[in-house]
Amino acid sequence: MGGLTPMIIVFVSMFAAKTLTSEAQYLLPVIKHEPTKQYYTTVNIGAGGLSSPVNLLLDLGTNLTWLNCRKIKSLSSLRVVTCKSSTCKSIPGNGCDRNTCLYRQPRPLGKTTVATSTGRVVQDNATIFTTEGGKPIYIAPSHRFTFSCAVEKYLQGMPPPVAGVLALSPGEFPFWRQMTSAYNIIPKFSLCLPSAHYGYFFIGTPSYGGIKPVPMTFTPLKIDSGKYLISVTSINVDGVPLTLDPSLLEGGAQLSTVVPYTVLQTDIYNALAQSFSLNATKIGMSEVPGTAPFKHCFEEGASGKNMDVSVMEIGLPGNEREVKWMFQGVNMVERVSETVICLAFVDGGKKPNEPMVIGIHQLQDYLIEFDFSTTRMAFSDPLVLHNTSCSK
Ligand SMILES: *[C@@H]1O[C@H](CO)[C@@H](O)[C@H](O)[C@H]1NC(C)=O
Ligand SMILES: *[C@@H]1O[C@H](CO)[C@@H](O)[C@H](O)[C@H]1NC(C)=O
Ligand SMILES: *[C@@H]1O[C@H](CO)[C@@H](O)[C@H](O)[C@H]1NC(C)=O
Ligand SMILES: *[C@@H]1O[C@H](CO)[C@@H](O)[C@H](O)[C@H]1NC(C)=O
Repeated sequence: MGGLTPMIIVFVSMFAAKTLTSEAQYLLPVIKHEPTKQYYTTVNIGAGGLSSPVNLLLDLGTNLTWLNCRKIKSLSSLRVVTCKSSTCKSIPGNGCDRNTCLYRQPRPLGKTTVATSTGRVVQDNATIFTTEGGKPIYIAPSHRFTFSCAVEKYLQGMPPPVAGVLALSPGEFPFWRQMTSAYNIIPKFSLCLPSAHYGYFFIGTPSYGGIKPVPMTFTPLKIDSGKYLISVTSINVDGVPLTLDPSLLEGGAQLSTVVPYTVLQTDIYNALAQSFSLNATKIGMSEVPGTAPFKHCFEEGASGKNMDVSVMEIGLPGNEREVKWMFQGVNMVERVSETVICLAFVDGGKKPNEPMVIGIHQLQDYLIEFDFSTTRMAFSDPLVLHNTSCSK
């Protein structure tokens, strides 16, 4: 299966760096860390030839990028942000320590909400990989990038290559906003999260390197308390609407790049699991005990390695009429052994904060755009239906 574009991320010498025009495309690699299934990218921090590559976890819920600043080899261009500066004043929830701006925020993989990261707010030059007209890749030196320095112990539970968290929230200081304003390009970013290996993180308008574009569907983004939410108008499984108390869908669905499997409120989960189990048994699978974190698992039996058990469609407000986001095949199930597959959703309990949090396993192999110029989100058809994927 071919990747979305035939490009390979090549490390071009620092000396080939050049400033790009506003027509340019900005592309970063997305790397999937298999054991934890988390995604990270690489940003170079520091000035010119002395910059250090730093791997950062992608998190739609983090407001300010933070990292272990010991990973930056040369601190010559690093500057602390003072408490009195306008930058410090505009960071929500900032603090102050002897005239150095401090910022405290939740850690994305913390088991409890009290797991926070506190660090000094600093600025340094950041450099990213990029493409021009879909052609090979240059490195664009950026202006002052604001982030915070955190200590190593905050990295506990994260994939070992990772040294911090890249902020992708809808707030004022996420990485994508700092980059789009520094380069004066459209405030927009897109993710193509791979099921394996490498995927794509575009800033500005994505470029597909001459590959035919995949149809995209649009829905309004609802931004609330630093979260990305979409309104859910219905949920259909195999063409049949789930019978749910409509108030359950009122909270909408949150999008997350750190939650491994979509978490559903118990009633939604049960309704989905019931339809799914019915189809699984119909095609010759037999139910076996669940394997954590999954509750519904099936021995494939006579079904012949068929991952297409059920199709789920989430109804969303579109342009004048409802649009549907379709999940099928590997976005619905996870293989846990040679012959056993599980419904790849998690029961989030009766009263979770959000009735639905759409996680990694369901977001992978779609192109997903967050467009702040229109406050819309766009999602592609499942790329597998177009014989492509986000992986390369
Ligand atoms: C680092 O960023 C500053 C501020 O924009 C800029 O003046 C300087 O030229 C940059 N340095 C390098 C080496 O890119
Ligand atoms: C991000 O900022 C928003 C407001 O700007 C706040 O409501 C939210 O709690 C913050 N999120 C995190 C994870 O700190
Ligand atoms: C699941 O069962 C329904 C109802 O019988 C059927 O319409 C649907 O096609 C089945 N789904 C798949 C993916 O086979
Ligand atoms: C994908 O490939 C299959 C088999 O090679 C082919 O039948 C199908 O038409 C292709 N679909 C698209 C959208 O290109």
